[in-house]
Amino acid sequence: MQSTQQETHQRTRRESVAGNVQNPVQDSKPSWPPKAPSHETIHRFCVKPADVGIVGVVDGGTLLEWIDKVAYAAAAQWSGRYCVTAYVGNFHLDRPISVGALVELHATLVYTGRCSMHILVTVYSSDSTRGNAVQTSQCPIIFVALDDTGNPVEVPPWTPITMLELQRQRQARVRIPMRTRIEGAMAAECYTDEGTAPSATLCLLAAPTDVNWSGKVGGGRVMRWMDEAASVCGADWTGAQVITSYIAGIRFYRPINIGHVIDLTARILHTGPRSIHASIHVTTRDTDGVLIESMVFVGVWFPRWDRSRFAALVE
Ligand SMILES: CC(C)(COP(=O)(O)OP(=O)(O)OC[C@H]1O[C@@H](n2cnc3c(N)ncnc32)[C@H](O)[C@@H]1OP(=O)(O)O)[C@@H](O)C(=O)NCCC(=O)NCCS
Repeated sequence: MQSTQQETHQRTRRESVAGNVQNPVQDSKPSWPPKAPSHETIHRFCVKPADVGIVGVVDGGTLLEWIDKVAYAAAAQWSGRYCVTAYVGNFHLDRPISVGALVELHATLVYTGRCSMHILVTVYSSDSTRGNAVQTSQCPIIFVALDDTGNPVEVPPWTPITMLELQRQRQARVRIPMRTRIEGAMAAECYTDEGTAPSATLCLLAAPTDVNWSGKVGGGRVMRWMDEAASVCGADWTGAQVITSYIAGIRFYRPINIGHVIDLTARILHTGPRSIHASIHVTTRDTDGVLIESMVFVGVWFPRWDRSRFAALVE
């Protein structure tokens, strides 16, 4: 990501806790390092040729990496700790993003639990010459702060002030028991090799270039691999290119270290007239256990790639 600018809005952690913000209006000036931990981070940059996939627009994996990066900045800012991605929520990729577009990712803290921070990332893109910014997607993501020994640690509580903040906090709170129910249902599922659904498995080795400064593979990188596994499965089934249009419920149970062997299996769950729904499971082979993640993915595909048909679909 070149030309990345980061801004943090000066609604500080101390102000939020005290609840007496004099001027909650956001300061739009870029500032780094921030004077105090803030609840919002913005990344702004232009899309390079290397950022787009083979169909000429930014693919789901790249967008997930961007979302993870900006949300990490917001979580680390707020907690003052190293944080890990625990969950990435449902989101639609509403509009294609092409080379040269100006992209802005806004990561806003919407809820804090004891150790978790719920962040809403909104992606805007615009033609860099015309500046007509439109919302491309919006994605909830949860980070957990860790202490020096790698265990979850308490984070400062976030106190919403505006109506929008209160509404977002309420929505985040409502989703918690729902997610727990889904997780329970997923845990009760038993996956065997007996199924006949088409599937594709990618096998990778976590290399030193895949890890972040903590020595673990970042959530963004894992999500990129998941997107690739789903794309291979979709392309195998259709005999044509697929693009990601919807992603739901990615859960990260265990960290991945250098040297871990990673298996990503994408399995088709359902096909519609123009879409393929797939689940992706990731397991690592290592000395201390197995990681299982799940993701439901929908690839929208066309027999022959046609931009005008894609544009019609997303309108
Ligand atoms: C995230 C992780 C630290 C949680 O560990 P844990 O032992 O389950 O922690 P706890 O049960 O104490 O939960 C801590 C908090 O995380 C939240 N949490 C944990 N897993 C979650 C999930 N999948 N979705 C949403 N929230 C989750 C809990 O609700 C709890 O929130 P609260 O303290 O605000 O109430 C652990 O699962 C992990 O290390 N996962 C891998 C993270 C990672 O490496 N990500 C990068 C890609 S591999």
